[in-house]
Amino acid sequence: LQHLLSLDGLPREILTAILDTAAPFTEVAEREVKKLPILRGKSIFNLFFENSTRTRTTFEIAAKRLSADVINLNISTSSTNKGETLLDTVDNLCAMQADMFVVRHASSGAPYLMADHLRNTGRNDIHVINAGDGRHAHPTQGLLDMYTIRHFKHDFSNLVVAVVGDVLHSRVARSQIAALTTLGVPEVRVIGPKTLLPTGLDKMGCRVFHDMRAGLKDVDVVMMLRLQNERMNGPLLPSAQEFFKVWGLTAEKLALAKADAIVMHPGPMNRGVEIDSEVADGAQAVILPQVTFGIAVRMAVMSMLGRS
Ligand code: CP
Repeated sequence: LQHLLSLDGLPREILTAILDTAAPFTEVAEREVKKLPILRGKSIFNLFFENSTRTRTTFEIAAKRLSADVINLNISTSSTNKGETLLDTVDNLCAMQADMFVVRHASSGAPYLMADHLRNTGRNDIHVINAGDGRHAHPTQGLLDMYTIRHFKHDFSNLVVAVVGDVLHSRVARSQIAALTTLGVPEVRVIGPKTLLPTGLDKMGCRVFHDMRAGLKDVDVVMMLRLQNERMNGPLLPSAQEFFKVWGLTAEKLALAKADAIVMHPGPMNRGVEIDSEVADGAQAVILPQVTFGIAVRMAVMSMLGRS
C-alpha cells in the first residue's frame, strides 16, 4: 500500500491483512506492552481541517505507540487562514521532512489531490491516509468497525448487518458498506428514510428498508449513524425529536434484532436523536471498544504504509 484513500476496490486479502496486523497491536494499544520501534525516526503530520475527537487522537496515540514523531498542525491558527492552498501547505510540510500525512477535509477528494500531487512531484516515499473526506470515505473507521465485528462475531460469512440512519451524507457508511461486502457479509441492510438514503445502494449489494422495525428483524449487528447536519443545506426536516420517534434506536426496537446482537456507532453520538441512552450505555453496545480498537487498526495501517 502506498496510500489509504478509500476501501472501495481494495481486495479482501488486503482488508484481512490489515485486521490481522492489528490483532497483536491491541496489546500495545492497551499499554500491556511497551512501544514498538517500527516508525522510529518518521514524522507523521496530522492535518485535520474538520473537527475530530476520536480519529485525530487515536491516530496520534497509534503513531506514538509506533515511536513516530507526531506533528498536529493546528489548522485554525495555520496559514491556511491567510489563503495558503492545501498543496502549498503539503509542499511546505514536505520541506520539513514529512513521511506521512493523516488528513481530514470537508471536501471529498482532498486526500486524492494530495496523493496525486506527491506522485506528480516524484515524492513516492510519502504516504497519505484519508481520515475522512466530505461525504466520500472514512477508511480507517470502516476498518476498525470490521475489526470490532470480527472480535465480537468471529466470522463475517454468516452475519446480517444493518447500517441505520443518514447514509446519504455519511462517509462512514460508504466505507462500512465497501468493507462488509468485500469481506463476504451475506446480507448488508441499509435502513433509513428515502430522503437520507442515496440511490444505487442495491448495486452496492445492499437490501434497502424504509421501515426500521422490518429492517432490524433478526440482525446480528446494528451500526447506527449520526445525522450529518453540517452536510445538509437547510434545517433538518422533520425535527430531531420527530426523527428519533421513527428512526431512533430504542430498547424496544433493538429487541427485534437477535438477542446477542451488538450495537455500534462511530461517534460522535447524538443521544435522543439517532440513539437512546438506554441502548448507547446498554449491555449490547460496543461503542467504546470500537474506539480502543481504532488505535490498533491505525497502528496496523501506519506500519504497513511505513514498510512499503
Ligand atoms: N468517528 C469519528 O470519525 O469520530 P471523530 O469525528 O471524533 O474523529
